[in-house]
Amino acid sequence: MKIITTVAEMKAQVAEWKAEGLTIGLTPTMGALHEGHMSLMERAVKECDRVVTSVFVNPIQFGPNEDYDNYPRDLEHDAAIAESKGVNVVFHPEPEEMYPKNYNTYVVMETLTDTLCGAKRPGHFRGVCTVVNKLFNIVQPDKAFFGQKDAQQLAIIKRMVAEEDGLAKSSRNSYLSAEERKAALCLSRSIFAAQDLIEGGERNADIVRTAVREIIEAEPLAQIDYIEVVDLGNMQPVDSLGESGLVAIAVYIGKTRLIDNYLFDFDE
Ligand code: PAF
Repeated sequence: MKIITTVAEMKAQVAEWKAEGLTIGLTPTMGALHEGHMSLMERAVKECDRVVTSVFVNPIQFGPNEDYDNYPRDLEHDAAIAESKGVNVVFHPEPEEMYPKNYNTYVVMETLTDTLCGAKRPGHFRGVCTVVNKLFNIVQPDKAFFGQKDAQQLAIIKRMVAEEDGLAKSSRNSYLSAEERKAALCLSRSIFAAQDLIEGGERNADIVRTAVREIIEAEPLAQIDYIEVVDLGNMQPVDSLGESGLVAIAVYIGKTRLIDNYLFDFDE
């Protein structure tokens, strides 16, 4: 396993892998690796030909009175864990490598960020979105793996990725014609609608299902397999929403079956 510290070297490694036709998985972390990270690395190693784990304590996602300086840092420990899980590269840049002097470009998500941690930690998600975007640009992963515990972060990153492409990334997307790809955007549109309703306080699961259904049904090439709102604990459909849950949909676009979902956990 290699430890890479510069963006240039990381990009060169990625280019080499891409030239060989290998798929790349990314597990972004701030180090202090624990069991949650380990299971993400295991999945990444199983699902991708090469895996990069970034270990970067991202200064711009910490507020002025937060624990940036004291955040645990132990590269030796993290590298040993990553190596034991079969990771190929630990990407460990210095802050100046990611944010050169006078750095001034940020990624801001305008929705989903004004409640929960977004409300309590102003600027936090701007920092997260910016660094995740940079990591995606550098590593160009086919798949990226994030923990579900931080549900707000996950929802924001999923939305950021979906808005970049408009279509939740899936290897099945390559089966779609151009017309079908356009039609498939109804999945992410319907999931955003569900997310907006739930974030706005809607607790009636039928209202959420109906909103999703109406968006999908308006697309002539789409055929619904299922639209569900379920409890996270037992995956059973619910009538009214609690503090956590999952909106999950499966839709055929032509012959291709696509899935998308919105997972929320306001208890976190
Ligand atoms: O969840 C984390 O550890 C961080 O927010 C992330 C996604 C690695 C970005 O710095």
